[in-house]
Amino acid sequence: MIQFSAVSSLSQTPKTWVFLACEKEDGFLNFPGKAGVEIRKVIEEEGFSGKEGQAAVAHPKGAIKAEKVIVLGVGTKTEVTVETLRRASGRLARKAREFRVEEALIEWPRQFKGEQIKAFVEGLILGSYQYTRYKTQLKDASKGIQKFILKVPLDQLSSSKASLKIAESYCEGVLLARDLINGAPSDITPRVLADTARKMVKGPVRLKLYSTKELKRMGAGGILGVNIGSALEPYLIHLHYKPAGKPKKSIAIVGKGITFDSGGLSLKPAGSMETMKMDMSGAAAVLGVFSQLAKLKPNVEVHGIIATTENMPGGRAYKPGDVLKAMNGKTMEVLNTDAEGRLVLSDALSYAVKQKVDGIVDMATLTGACVIALGSLISGAMSNDPKLMDKVKEATEAEGESIWELPLVKEYRDDIKSKVADIKNIGGGREAGTIIGGLFLQEFVGDTPWVHLDIAGPAYLEREYPAVPYLTFGGTGLMVRSLLTLLRNQS
Ligand code: BES
Ligand code: MN
Ligand code: ZN
Repeated sequence: MIQFSAVSSLSQTPKTWVFLACEKEDGFLNFPGKAGVEIRKVIEEEGFSGKEGQAAVAHPKGAIKAEKVIVLGVGTKTEVTVETLRRASGRLARKAREFRVEEALIEWPRQFKGEQIKAFVEGLILGSYQYTRYKTQLKDASKGIQKFILKVPLDQLSSSKASLKIAESYCEGVLLARDLINGAPSDITPRVLADTARKMVKGPVRLKLYSTKELKRMGAGGILGVNIGSALEPYLIHLHYKPAGKPKKSIAIVGKGITFDSGGLSLKPAGSMETMKMDMSGAAAVLGVFSQLAKLKPNVEVHGIIATTENMPGGRAYKPGDVLKAMNGKTMEVLNTDAEGRLVLSDALSYAVKQKVDGIVDMATLTGACVIALGSLISGAMSNDPKLMDKVKEATEAEGESIWELPLVKEYRDDIKSKVADIKNIGGGREAGTIIGGLFLQEFVGDTPWVHLDIAGPAYLEREYPAVPYLTFGGTGLMVRSLLTLLRNQS
């Protein structure tokens, strides 16, 4: 990870100097004196106007001793948000890699405080990320930023350092999630997810692991059913964080952990399978969050629950027509083995309810329909509790991880009525696929306040989105930061 520091005075001129600049009339923020005017003139000739999304590199001669100056446009001064800064630094990360900048310093404007520093640091770390586990030739590759200094006003030094620490912790969680998602599906197996959870056990974090034998005893027919076609053991992972003081609330975060979704006997076409190593992104988010709880110490009890298995078409695989019984006793007719996420989550949600929590947030790459409806930058959200929904909205907004609420239309429940069991795992046709998924999950949460996040689109990017440069190709580690903020807001 990038080595950060915050200082209030400088002993020497940095090699690369970074500035934020607003649109013309507002000029540079923290204007670097007369020399700055010169720089601005030069880059304006190349079309830089300070608009949000712009970034310019200049090689100053004379007045400024730095080798390079990078100027990031942040738009109109009064309209700068935390997300503007997260994106500006994401762009900085890209520029730095392009221009082989490894060390830089930013002259941080006084008007931007803690939340803004946090966002800027996040953008830089997340935008610098590359997944290189399987690359054998990296020697000549540009490393990107390795060392970064924030120069802040003296009276803001200690608060800046605190914000920096929080941003680093958030990103460590996100990067863990990204690495898990990006790993090959034969490397990131259910057992690897369980082992990752095992490494988090210390101090306030405890773990219970249930595999086939225990799952049978518990009646986890959803997880077991999906698992039969796979050669690998399934797990129900239960992480538990208990803060030192008396927490006001307890929350369960639940993740879908299908380490590879072939579709099972309702086999996916080859093209649709290409990215299905990402079908454990909900689980990765839970692990990312838990990796940071002991450090961030929110005053809320947290249960992290993951249902993990492959969905494979092996010789003993579950079949269309099979009936599975979930942990809460409900029977589920399987008509499509590719609607497996809701089946494994039926057990995970039933288990979450048993923990007697005040709220449940589940994250699942549940439906392709959600990708069609909202694309790769917005998650679908459904809930039985407007208050919890509002809190989730607030947290995701603060972290720039957009969600859009869809209604759990009760009239559509008829669509999952089964002739042979309590419910069936698909609706009648192609209508409202994401809502049908949400309605299915609702059968397992009872009255517990609950929010379901369908992250099928934004969990994994098959291309880059220039408007959001801190998101990189592949796993995004979505919802780690939002959930950490949600949990910290509870206390
Ligand atoms: N994991 C997929 C959903 C998915 C699709 C995630 C594309 C990310 C990108 C899920 O298990 C699935 O296969 N859903 C089916 C449900 C259908 C059979 C009711 C789908 O969306 O086609
Ligand atoms: Mn599927
Ligand atoms: Zn799936």
